[in-house]
Amino acid sequence: MPLQLSREELLDAAREFGTPLYVYHAERIKEQYQKLASAFSILDTDIFYACKALTNVNVLRYIRETGCNVDCSSVNEVKLALHAGFAPSQVLYTSNGIAFSEIEEAADAGVHINIDSLSNLEQFGKKYGHSYPVGIRIRPNIMAGGNLKISTGHDTSKFGIPVNQLQQIEETVRQNNLFIRTLHIHTGSDIKDADVFVQGIEVLFELIPHFPELEVIDLGGGFKVPYEPGEEEINVTQLAQKIKETFDNHPVAGGKKFRLWFEPGKFLVSECGYMLAEVTVLKDTGAIEFAAVNSGLNHLIRPMMYDAYHHIENISNPGGKKKLYTVTGNICETDTFASNRELNEIREGDILAFFNAGAYGFEMASNYNSRFKPAEVMIRDGRAQLIRQRDTFDDLLRKQVL
Ligand code: LLP
Repeated sequence: MPLQLSREELLDAAREFGTPLYVYHAERIKEQYQKLASAFSILDTDIFYACKALTNVNVLRYIRETGCNVDCSSVNEVKLALHAGFAPSQVLYTSNGIAFSEIEEAADAGVHINIDSLSNLEQFGKKYGHSYPVGIRIRPNIMAGGNLKISTGHDTSKFGIPVNQLQQIEETVRQNNLFIRTLHIHTGSDIKDADVFVQGIEVLFELIPHFPELEVIDLGGGFKVPYEPGEEEINVTQLAQKIKETFDNHPVAGGKKFRLWFEPGKFLVSECGYMLAEVTVLKDTGAIEFAAVNSGLNHLIRPMMYDAYHHIENISNPGGKKKLYTVTGNICETDTFASNRELNEIREGDILAFFNAGAYGFEMASNYNSRFKPAEVMIRDGRAQLIRQRDTFDDLLRKQVL
């Protein structure tokens, strides 16, 4: 039974810190990390937390304590990771569409780098030649992931160097004497089917013989976690078995063993997080009963951006009679969290908990409508600690030239 915060703990946090509020459960992150690490202990594996999901430095520090490494998608994330105490050798930077100067900054910091364009690869080769081992992000032309917006490996995706451009990659590597240590793919998010990873590995098998100095196969992230009741997370034990068999049954590069890298975001932090909001207005239109909360797509954009389902509970009236509600925010455009959802009777002032808010929740929040970003709290060993203050009016003016 996965660890969950109790209703009382969530209500206490709402009372102490106010709403809207993000609450993270530290031990739940550790549980997910250990599940993954133990499943993949049958292979030489390193796990890098894809911190774009949630970058609060207190969370980063906690994740470092669990023994996990960190994957970054911008040089600022690299700086946050170093700030949180990760050693450069524990930090991976997988870039996309960036100016070469950002890669230089990452190289100055001494972190692992995956490059995703021929242009960046050539510039990297000219500057560092063989002296800095580097990874190449390959676009395997595989369609995977929960929806098109979060699919990244298909044949019209902007990510990675298309696998069919192998000849150009080889020329760039040869001309610049590059040390290619890693081949990387990341095909998408919300992947439940282990075969997607196997398909990806099979694409990489074709490439491996072309890179004799290869040491690492990086299969990215994308492991599915349950969002809706009854959904299951990807079975990581079976996944590890399948991946092991795929490697064992293929005589790649004369039986050479590779280290495997993964970059999970959602798997580690989605379920640890809850967004708590207070019901401000009930509006019965006859056809629909709306419950508006003191939050919106400015705080949790996933329902509007991806039609994502987030489980909702009325934690302040758990015994209330079930009724259908359309839960919205207070933003001046349509910001529906859930339509016709069965919830325990809602009264104005009740506290709703939005589940799976750890990954891409606060991280994608904004100040749209000049509203404040929520505070963040981490509960560890049963103790709630404020890890980000709620915005104040000064924050809205801070960078404006007055
Ligand atoms: N590695 C790379 C190179 C990535 O681009 C991503 C996510 C990950 C790892 C981690 O994927 P995860 O394990 O979290 O699925 N905002 C969207 C998800 C976008 C993911 C972008 N890349 C959402 O809320 O569903």
